[in-house]
Amino acid sequence: MQSWFPFVPESASTISGDVDALYFYISGVTIFFVLLISAVLIYFVIRYRRRNAYEIPRPIEGSIKLETLWSVIPLLIAMTIFFWGARVYFAQYRPAKNAIDIYVVGKQWMWKFQHATGQREINELHVPVGRKIKLIMATEDVIHDVFVPAFRIKMDVVPGKYTTLWFEATQPGRYHFFCAEYCGMNHSGMGGYVVVMEPAEYEDWLSGNAGQASPAAAGRGLFESLGCASCHGANAEGGRGPALLGVFGSKVVLSNGPSVTADEGYLRESILNPQAKIVTGFGPIMPSFQGQVSEEQLLQVVAYLKSLSTAKPETPTAKPAPSAKPGAAAKPSGK
Ligand code: CUA
Repeated sequence: MQSWFPFVPESASTISGDVDALYFYISGVTIFFVLLISAVLIYFVIRYRRRNAYEIPRPIEGSIKLETLWSVIPLLIAMTIFFWGARVYFAQYRPAKNAIDIYVVGKQWMWKFQHATGQREINELHVPVGRKIKLIMATEDVIHDVFVPAFRIKMDVVPGKYTTLWFEATQPGRYHFFCAEYCGMNHSGMGGYVVVMEPAEYEDWLSGNAGQASPAAAGRGLFESLGCASCHGANAEGGRGPALLGVFGSKVVLSNGPSVTADEGYLRESILNPQAKIVTGFGPIMPSFQGQVSEEQLLQVVAYLKSLSTAKPETPTAKPAPSAKPGAAAKPSGK
């Protein structure tokens, strides 16, 4: 669908209309003031021109009223841009809940995608319309940047960490995406298409490409072959190393006091640089896996650890929660 605002790419995500509206507003304010100031400038140049060679202008004093007015009005206008911009920014960059996870690895010069169900793609990404899609992104070499103009989303992919980005497409179709960070000789060719499909069509596509191990299953294999199980337990139940069941998304207390939320970035760091944040009660005995696993394998191990926590909520439903008894409900939660 072409945007209602001319000269911009088509608009095909839940956020793109908001971005366009803000952009249109800023453009409007800019054009209005360019015209206003130019007109006043021309008028003053003519109105107050020097009329004879010996003319001495009348001295003028400042005007508090005028100066206040031309400070306060621009401030108010600038604040509308700030608050509107912040609102759109937070809507876009706060991580989405209930999204479909897709793992992305950028490398010179291609984009590799892997779906949670195992399907792999290169330079093409198939997604269903009307669902939130969360991209968890890493790079094997230099900085790249995912840019999908039709969705108005853009995010750097940075060595040594994960970045995330989410979108929800509103129109089936093929949308060009680009690498938007100069990354070497074939940077300009590092792109492809996001293919947005109707949900049924997407299910068809998924089943037509089945038969590849899911990232979580591949991660489980790595967990065993890399020897993680010898310390963390065959089923990640813990041992010489901390239990990893349900660790994703939980608060982990560190040996030096503070606690951190175990997100993708923390899991990644703990695999590559285990001494950085040691869980309280455990010694610094874990070796680093830096250089032994590729970015894709790391994402698979992370996907496996995440699958351990998404499986977790199923167990408590087996027996009634203890807080069902009226007396027991007073226990404070959290912390
Ligand atoms: Cu990758 Cu530019």
